[in-house]
Amino acid sequence: MMYTMLCHPPGPSKVPLAILALIAVMTNVVRAEDESMGPVFVKEPPNRVDFSNGTGAEVECQARGNPQPDIIWVRADGTAVGDVPGLRQVLPNGNLVFPPFRAEDYRQEVHAQVYSCLATSPAGSVHSRDVNVRAVVQQIYESRVIDEFVLSGNTATLKCLIPSFVADFVDAIEWIADDGTSYTIDDLEEKDGKYLVLPSGELHIRDVGPEDGYKTYQCRTKHRLTGETRLSATKGRLVITEPVASARPKFPMTDTSRTYTIRHSRTQTLFCPAQAYPIPAFRWYKFLNGTTRRQPVQLNDRIRQVSGTLIIREARVEDSGKYLCIVNNSVGGESVETVLTVTAPLGAEIEPRTQTVDFGRPATFTCNVRGNPIKTVSWMKDGKPLGHEELVLRIDSVKKEDKGMYQCFVRNDQESAQATAELKLGGRFEPPQIKQAFTEETLQPGPSMFLKCVASGNPTPEITWELDGKRLSNTERLQVGQYVKVNGDVVSHLNISSIHTNDGGLYKCIAGSKVGAAEHSARLNVYGLPFIRHMDKKAIVAGETLRVTCPVAGYPIESTVWERDNRVLPINRKQKVFPNGTLIIENVERQSDQATYTCVARNAQGYSARGTLEVQVMVAPQIVPFVMGDEPANWGDAVTATCTVFKGDFPIHIEWSLNGELIRNNYPDIVISTSSKRVSVLTIDQVTARHAGEYSCSASNAAGGTSYTVSLIVNGTYTENRTYTLSVNSEISNVIYEITNLIIKKT
Ligand SMILES: *[C@@H]1O[C@H](CO)[C@@H](O)[C@H](O)[C@H]1NC(C)=O
Ligand SMILES: *[C@@H]1O[C@H](CO)[C@@H](O)[C@H](O)[C@H]1NC(C)=O
Ligand SMILES: *[C@@H]1O[C@H](CO)[C@@H](O)[C@H](O)[C@H]1NC(C)=O
Ligand SMILES: *[C@@H]1O[C@H](CO)[C@@H](O)[C@H](O)[C@H]1NC(C)=O
Ligand SMILES: *[C@@H]1O[C@H](CO)[C@@H](O)[C@H](O)[C@H]1NC(C)=O
Ligand SMILES: *[C@@H]1O[C@H](CO)[C@@H](O)[C@H](O)[C@H]1NC(C)=O
Ligand SMILES: *[C@@H]1O[C@H](CO)[C@@H](O)[C@H](O)[C@H]1NC(C)=O
Repeated sequence: MMYTMLCHPPGPSKVPLAILALIAVMTNVVRAEDESMGPVFVKEPPNRVDFSNGTGAEVECQARGNPQPDIIWVRADGTAVGDVPGLRQVLPNGNLVFPPFRAEDYRQEVHAQVYSCLATSPAGSVHSRDVNVRAVVQQIYESRVIDEFVLSGNTATLKCLIPSFVADFVDAIEWIADDGTSYTIDDLEEKDGKYLVLPSGELHIRDVGPEDGYKTYQCRTKHRLTGETRLSATKGRLVITEPVASARPKFPMTDTSRTYTIRHSRTQTLFCPAQAYPIPAFRWYKFLNGTTRRQPVQLNDRIRQVSGTLIIREARVEDSGKYLCIVNNSVGGESVETVLTVTAPLGAEIEPRTQTVDFGRPATFTCNVRGNPIKTVSWMKDGKPLGHEELVLRIDSVKKEDKGMYQCFVRNDQESAQATAELKLGGRFEPPQIKQAFTEETLQPGPSMFLKCVASGNPTPEITWELDGKRLSNTERLQVGQYVKVNGDVVSHLNISSIHTNDGGLYKCIAGSKVGAAEHSARLNVYGLPFIRHMDKKAIVAGETLRVTCPVAGYPIESTVWERDNRVLPINRKQKVFPNGTLIIENVERQSDQATYTCVARNAQGYSARGTLEVQVMVAPQIVPFVMGDEPANWGDAVTATCTVFKGDFPIHIEWSLNGELIRNNYPDIVISTSSKRVSVLTIDQVTARHAGEYSCSASNAAGGTSYTVSLIVNGTYTENRTYTLSVNSEISNVIYEITNLIIKKT
């Protein structure tokens, strides 16, 4: 080594080799990463699959990736779906098949279920949107038309009554009068200026006269899944009454729902079925978004009004809102409100679709969503919920386990949509890895020995050593040394000269860098009598788990036990004691667990050693919930808030902030006083608008911190904004000074 250094200038002889080695490692990693690709759906199943028992259904799901992902189907709770002979089958190509089945074979958990397709490969996993599967057993049904009462001159709507058990799949498509005339849903204009089949299936007849009372009508329905059509079992007619006196507009008692949710681009009918004499006028209004102001509905090709009925074709999200129909005649008026929600298909996209991020660097995914309404947003990673509900997902420092597939889901009551993105690890950094390490050994005291660990990683890790959980540093007999090999590996030795019995214990080497850590441990046994090394006092926060291992040396040891007040543990269910000398106490409490514990190690000859451990339980602060006036404060009121810390070890530090900003001298009119070490009182003598906001009291001590926030609402922000004119008479001329925008705030 010295020779090489003398012959060449320092540095270059070693460095190029190291760099070459590094480059070799980097290119390997990068190439391997680039080839793999997490699963992405090529064919994602739809939100709804409705089918009839006579036809069955096949739901497609296809994904690609490198390696090619496997496809399975799962239920909403994540459990895998298996084959059910004759009723459900997952094909090798990933499709989910529901064969035609007999009515008696209907099974709720197969035929009315929410499924999701899950594509998995070593590069990650992704879930499809929720697939609501619904099988319908063909059932005999009949629809009916009943007579409708109408005042002569008004508009009548004849309804095709469809039993509710098939109503989701059966639509009225045609009306047939007894003279053979047919009116179909495809006629966009009224026939004879009078008849129109509404998109919702009713037959709309305007200007009803006495002659209309002689016809009867039947409706024809069509089953959407089977295509089967059927005539109504009964015929209905109009029962016409000639008005004898004026009548103010009245809505029928059987008036139905006034809240509709429809899919974008569908057609919706808004009814206003009032009858009156004289014939009333109908006017439709729409309320301006969230206000009580309204505007007449603009009629055009798309939005038509046929007598009192409003027909909206190719509905748009902007058509959503609250509508008002006002019906008037000379004797009175009546009105009715209808709420329409137009949904737009949900969609999502994540930006960026893939990103390659180095260890320790931040990563951000942004979910762009569309559609209406959006009820929830959630994230998954490799098919597991992340519990994150915002549109932006940020990882501050990427770790190895962050690699994989990320998904953002948007949902509402009707449907869901998802987007996928992949996070790949950059090749530039590598978390530490232990490549070579020591094994358990049993020795006689006397000789010198060493333990060795070799680790790799980029950046180069640092290796540290521990004995029974306590960090080791150089002493007279103990030397730690570390060097980096040409290939970049770090070699660390722990050298112990003339080993003693008391050197026995669990040795650990830890390789750490800013991108991670790796560790290895093994016991070193040295023959001799039992010995227990000193244990430092242990402070632990209440509620946490205490975990200690008795630092025993000496070999062989027959038993290691823990005691408290001369009783062998465990003495309650929170305590767990293991033969290897580990004591675990869950959910520590000061009252029951703060104590001195003794660990006793014995050998077969009856020699023993004892060591004591003092456990101190620290209590983190807790604040009593408080208010800042139950009601909004008025200008000039005095307001106080008292923050009481009812639990927690001293010293406790209490401070206040307003809207996240610490209150110090920045608010001269907010006074904070301390009446005891546990109580802090905030006082504002005269409240003004600028005092409104969120007040937080934060309490902290060595064991932790907590805060409690309340809001102060200041009633009626009173601001005067006037222009004052000030005239000054001078001997030369009248000079007018104008003060503009003098703002007077009432305080
Ligand atoms: C579906 O159900 C109907 C009514 O129960 C039955 O008549 C029909 O045969 C069934 N279809 C098949 C394929 O079994
Ligand atoms: C209506 O109000 C909602 C929220 O209240 C808002 O997101 C939307 O942009 C508003 N629409 C219009 C046309 O003002
Ligand atoms: C029309 O009816 C509305 C709703 O009842 C009523 O407020 C309004 O006064 C009526 N207008 C006329 C001109 O009768
Ligand atoms: C520790 O021992 C090893 C092996 O004998 C030796 O290579 C190394 O230089 C020693 N390290 C120290 C710090 O003494
Ligand atoms: C001792 O054994 C328990 C139970 O097997 C284990 O949880 C614990 O980590 C062990 N302790 C040590 C220091 O190996
Ligand atoms: C808020 O101020 C208004 C007008 O000054 C007053 O009518 C109202 O009662 C006040 N509310 C409260 C809670 O004091
Ligand atoms: C006061 O009124 C003036 C003129 O009307 C306007 O420009 C200014 O923004 C107002 N200031 C405030 C605080 O309302």
